[in-house]
Formats: sequence, structure tokens, C-alpha cells
Amino acid sequence: MKFFVLKAYGEPPQLEIKESSIPDLSEDDILVKVSYSAVNDYDWSLSTGKPLLYRLLFGLLKPKLRPGMEISGVVKQIGTKIQNFHVGDRVFGDLSEDRFGGFATHVLAKEKSLRKIPDELALDEAASLPHAGLLVHQSIELLNNKQCKKILINGAGGGVGTLAFQLLKKEGVRIDGIDTGEKLSDMDKLGYEKVYDYKVKDLQKLDEQYDFILDTKSKFWPWHYSSKLAKNGIFVTVGGDLPQLAALLIFKGLIKKLSQKELKILGLKANRGLEDFVKLYLKKSMKSRIDGPYPFDEAANALSRFGQGLHSGKVLLKIASESEH
Ligand SMILES: NC(=O)c1ccc[n+]([C@@H]2O[C@H](COP(=O)([O-])OP(=O)(O)OC[C@H]3O[C@@H](n4cnc5c(N)ncnc54)[C@H](OP(=O)(O)O)[C@@H]3O)[C@@H](O)[C@H]2O)c1
Repeated sequence: MKFFVLKAYGEPPQLEIKESSIPDLSEDDILVKVSYSAVNDYDWSLSTGKPLLYRLLFGLLKPKLRPGMEISGVVKQIGTKIQNFHVGDRVFGDLSEDRFGGFATHVLAKEKSLRKIPDELALDEAASLPHAGLLVHQSIELLNNKQCKKILINGAGGGVGTLAFQLLKKEGVRIDGIDTGEKLSDMDKLGYEKVYDYKVKDLQKLDEQYDFILDTKSKFWPWHYSSKLAKNGIFVTVGGDLPQLAALLIFKGLIKKLSQKELKILGLKANRGLEDFVKLYLKKSMKSRIDGPYPFDEAANALSRFGQGLHSGKVLLKIASESEH
């Protein structure tokens, strides 16, 4: 098997390709031949070692984990205790609670990290969904079935925003979006009511209030978000700058008490609800936004592209095609 390791923290990513024989499986391991691997925020943090706090997890002086955590592929071998997967199954999943290492031709994974891919879903789309799809799915769960007529998505043209729009859009619901660059015209085409460029008019400068705000890049203080919520409105962030996220945790209780407006931070639970999300994805004929796929040996470029914000949707590495399985 071939796999990437990170030699050191730094920019550009210090990726090095290695080759070894496939390790022996333990009784609860599944060997997957990887088809696609998606580039993720964690991969960028793992390769740069930033924010520095993450080095407590990734290794103080050099990265100890291998990059890659969202994959799709085909089961090649199973341990003696595996009951729910069989050789030949098409699978996908998030390896972040397992051993990472998805930038590889093969991975060993536990059952909890994998789900079967429905026949109707292609391997490339499947690799793009475990993170972005579940960030959307689990964020919407936080609404507890509250009906929202006016919605704002911040970071609306990225992986999460594009899926969130498609899931939330229905008759009588207005969705505005904020992003920048080429994504703005795609957001128009997708059906966003009002589209804002954050480099010109960011969330703080809007003079509207919303029932629900979904934020993928929180950079403002909690009171800025609560001022953009209508009565009983809900703000959910899936990611952003650490000081602002910490302030949200500290002040959300007080804001709820004073204004009845709720501010929530989503902590993603790997793979939880993936089958349910994919059923909705197929039923609503949703489309994930994919950047690439890029060849496996161009992993460093693909990772740099992600880190520099040049990507548009989920950056994918193509490792093996369907016919190679
Ligand atoms: N909660 C969890 O447990 C968890 C787990 C994994 C990941 N995450 C987080 O989830 C988020 C992933 O979102 P994604 O996949 O949609 O990322 P993405 O595809 O990179 O999209 C984010 C979009 O936001 C835009 N953006 C950047 N700064 C902005 C600003 N100030 N205002 C409005 N838009 C802005 C970006 O545009 P440009 O880059 O072109 O400027 C990009 O189009 C990340 O924040 C990640 O850290 C959270």
C-alpha cells in the first residue's frame, strides 16, 4: 500500500509518500481499498500545526497522525469478528475517531467508522459527505423541528452551505447567503434570495433579522449574532475563530436569559446519522459541491489549495476508480 505522512509542520505541506505491505488485520478491522479521500480542515491544521493548541492532539514537535479522514472505497478484507460488512461492499465514512490516514491506497478501519454506500450514490460524492453532510444534518437537528421562514447561511457557497441550502429550501422559506468570489454567482443560480459578498457587506453589516442563522466561519462576537436574530431565533455555528467560539460558550446562557435568542455551537459526532442524511440527499436529488478530484500524487497541491482558500466545495483526491476495484 501507498500512504502519505507529514514529515514536519509547515507550509507548503510537508507530505511524503511511503510504501509498505498491508498490515495484518485484527479481528475487528476492515481493510478498505480507498477510492476517494476528501481534504478537511483537520488535514490543514495537522499539516501546519496551527492553531498551536491542536499540537496537544497532533504531536508537540511533529505531526504524529497521518492525514486524511473522510474516505470512500471498497471492502477488501474483514476481521473474524466483523458481522455487518462483507468483501466487495462500497463504504464511506469519517475516520477521525479511528486512525485517520485516509490519504492512502488502503486503510484499516473499525465498523463504527464506516457505512455502506447506497447503490445510487457515486464513490466521489460519497467521500464528500461524511463531514459537510453531517455538519448540516446535526445543525438542523439543533432546531428541534422549529419552523423557520427566514434563514441566513454564512459561508453559504462552501461545502456545508451548499448542502444546507438544498436541505432547508422549501416553499415559503426565504434563504439569504453570504460568501465571496465565484461562489456568489453559483449561489444565485442555486436560488438564494439575497446574496452578499462578505468582503463588501459581512454579517455584522446586514440590517435584517433571521429565524435561523447557520454559520460556517464565525468571526464575530456573540452579541453581533444575537442582534441579527429575530424573536426566539436560533444561531448555530459549526466552526470559526477560537476566541469568538469561546466567547459564544461563555455568553450564550446570558443572551438566552436576556433575549430568548439561542446561540449554539455544533460539536460534530462522527458518522452519527450518516445513513439518514444520505437518504434525504438522494430523495431531494441534492448535489454536493466538489473541487477536483485531484490525482493522489498531487495531494500536497490539493491540500495547499484548500489551505489558501482557493477551493470551491469539497476538495477530493482520486485514489482508485470504480473499475480498479
Ligand atoms: N463543529 C465541528 O465539530 C466541526 C468539524 C469539522 C469541521 N468543522 C468546521 O466546519 C466548517 C466547514 O465548512 P465548509 O466545509 O462549508 O467549508 P468551506 O467549503 O471552506 O466553506 C466555507 C466558506 O465560507 C467562506 N468564508 C470565509 N470567511 C468568511 C466570512 N468571514 N464570512 C462569510 N463567509 C466566509 C469561504 O470563502 P473563502 O474561503 O473563499 O473566502 C468558504 O466559501 C469549518 O469552519 C470547519 O472548521 C467543524
